[in-house]
Amino acid sequence: MPKATVVQLKDMVDAETIAKSGLRLSLDKIRDFQVRGDDVFLITYPKSGTTWMKEIVPFILNGGNIDEIKDTPADVRVPYLEFALSSDDDERVKQIQSNFNVPKGFSLDDLKPPRTICTHLRREFLPRGIEEKRAKVIYVARNPKDIAVSTYYFSKMLMEKGLGCRSSEPYGDFNDLLHDFLEAEYRTQTVVYDGSKWHEHVLEWWNRRHEGNVLFLKYEDMLQDIKASLRQISEFLSAELSTSAVEKISNHCSFKTMKKNRVALKGDYCEKILGGKSEETSPFVRKGGAGGWKNYFTVAQNEMFDRHYREWMKDSDLEMTFEL
Ligand code: A3P
Repeated sequence: MPKATVVQLKDMVDAETIAKSGLRLSLDKIRDFQVRGDDVFLITYPKSGTTWMKEIVPFILNGGNIDEIKDTPADVRVPYLEFALSSDDDERVKQIQSNFNVPKGFSLDDLKPPRTICTHLRREFLPRGIEEKRAKVIYVARNPKDIAVSTYYFSKMLMEKGLGCRSSEPYGDFNDLLHDFLEAEYRTQTVVYDGSKWHEHVLEWWNRRHEGNVLFLKYEDMLQDIKASLRQISEFLSAELSTSAVEKISNHCSFKTMKKNRVALKGDYCEKILGGKSEETSPFVRKGGAGGWKNYFTVAQNEMFDRHYREWMKDSDLEMTFEL
């Protein structure tokens, strides 16, 4: 096993600590980013279905014309805000961008309007212009138990390769990750860079779901009825979709099809960085579904998680779906 490269980090709870993190995200640049009124921001807590939405939204915006953009790297079609604006300042971010097939010198200004930009950052670190210009925000929330399992796989895999480690102690069993998930203090810096706990991230947008520029979606609702979700998204984006386009996109974005799609799997990244065949190693299209957590949580872990969950959600009417 390669030796882990340890990056010294403190708890990441505010802008200053993000700035001190291994990824030197350019927070001022991000806050000051010139948002356009027709920009679309795709916001998620990591492992909530970002890759899925990165595949869906561009095809909705181009009317289901799959061939036109199917080979464009996912991170060029829908770039990460925090990486696109920080890559000149940080060698590690530059490396991540290059692994995701983002060309050198790529700029968000290179995108054709409407630009679709994704991010895991929590609201307070986002461009001021989103609020000022009322740019569209699509937020996807997934139940936190499945997120914890998904994060476990991703983090463990990265640590085994010595990537993005904040600690020299690799993740052992699921319990290690579960604890870190509840505290949002991960051993890998790639998971979430701003110290947000799941509920802090999700509730910020749940509480704004009635604002005209916000569409709040649940991953599990998409699993249940993808065609209804595609129509909901296209209506929100004022992008007309024919019945045949809905059909085409739902096929193209199905788990089964995405599992064979090198662009969605980020095949080059997987083979270069994680090793193995991308359909087996890709953490971006891994197992999917709702309720897989039941194979990982013990009864005691589940009870402990539920206690945290009840406390997190005690003032909220958001109800998540934990199994289908
Ligand atoms: P699992 O690890 O539980 O399988 P993100 O893109 O935010 O990192 O989220 C990754 C998760 O979304 C993974 O979850 C992945 O399998 C799931 N996912 C990706 N494409 C999907 C699809 N077409 N349908 C359902 N889930 C999908």
